[in-house]
Parts: sequence; structure tokens; C-alpha cells
Amino acid sequence: MNEITIRKVEVKDILGIIRVINESVMATHTRLYPPKDIQETLDNYTEEKVERYIKEYDYFVAEFNNEIVGCVLAKESKMRSLYVLPSFMGKSLGKRLVEKAEECVKANGYNEIFLWSSLVSHDFYIHMGYEDVKGIENMEGLILHIEMRKIFKP
Ligand SMILES: CC(C)(COP(=O)(O)OP(=O)(O)OC[C@H]1O[C@@H](n2cnc3c(N)ncnc32)[C@H](O)[C@@H]1OP(=O)(O)O)[C@@H](O)C(=O)NCCC(=O)NCCS
Repeated sequence: MNEITIRKVEVKDILGIIRVINESVMATHTRLYPPKDIQETLDNYTEEKVERYIKEYDYFVAEFNNEIVGCVLAKESKMRSLYVLPSFMGKSLGKRLVEKAEECVKANGYNEIFLWSSLVSHDFYIHMGYEDVKGIENMEGLILHIEMRKIFKP
């Protein structure tokens, strides 16, 4: 049976990553975010920007049958941009990608990991053992992200 594999990104994955992020955001964010903020999130993932992230971050993708179905980034003590394709949600893939980023941050020599959660993924991170640090205000003073952290068990 085919399995979902998690591997380091390659340049050929860029369009697949953008598709995952677009579909994941459109499936989850419309209930809590206004269209302007959704567009701002999607604007962070143009081909040029994803190409730059690939160079600057440890970037991991989940692949199934030659299709990109999830992604996550790590750098120093931070995890970013966790997204799962909607049709692959609820199959422990988000959990596996978080664990991959945590491994990476541990290997970077940190004993804790930080992230900015979207409002829609906050409860997922709580479930994964993360705690709130503070709300992050946007230009209009609205809290649209929450900084969270997890201290690794020794
Ligand atoms: C959040 C997200 C990554 C979860 O991915 P997923 O693959 O569906 O989650 P998993 O199947 O790995 O779930 C792992 C565990 O978390 C739980 N869980 C999943 N979503 C949850 C939620 N919204 N609230 C609480 N628990 C949740 C599952 O029940 C599962 O629990 P278990 O291991 O005890 O059985 C996915 O829904 C997603 O991509 N959302 C949009 C992402 C986003 O907003 N990213 C912004 C950057 S932070």
C-alpha cells in the first residue's frame, strides 16, 4: 500500500506547496478571518517567496503518490507554515509534520520551540502540548495569531 512520506523539499515542489497552502487556508480560514486577511496570508506564498523560504529554512513536505499533501518549515527555535491538504486532514499528518519540525529544532540545539498559530489551528497546537505565550496584534489591533511554545521534555 502507498504511504505518505515526509522528506526535505525540492525546487520542483513549489507549485505543489502553494496548492496545499491555498486549499488548506480556503478550507479552514474563511470561518474566522475576513477576506483581506486571508489574501494577506496567501500573498506570503507566491512562487518567489516559497523559493526563498526553501533556501532560508529547513523545509519539509509530505508526499503521497507524487503529490504534495502537506508542508512545514523550521528555523533555529521556530516552526512555521504548517499546512495539510484538506482531503488529508484527520490522518495524523499534521502531527507527523509537527514532530518533524520539533526534531529539527532539537537538532538545532534548542530545548523549546516557538510558533505563531492561526486562530483556526490554536486548539490543534494545544492538543499537541503547546501553550500560549501572547496574542499577536495586526495593524488594526486585532489578534489574528497567537504566539505559542512547547518546552521539550528532557
Ligand atoms: C491544523 C492542521 C495542521 C491539523 O492537521 P491534521 O492532519 O488534520 O491533524 P492530525 O490528524 O495530525 O491530528 C493530530 C491530533 O490533533 C487533533 N486535532 C486535529 N485538529 C484539531 C483541532 N482543530 N482542535 C483540536 N484537536 C485537533 C486530532 O484529533 C489528533 O488527535 P489524536 O492524535 O489524539 O488522535 C490542519 O487542520 C491544517 O492544515 N489547518 C490549517 C493550517 C493553518 O492554519 N496553518 C497556519 C500556520 S500555523
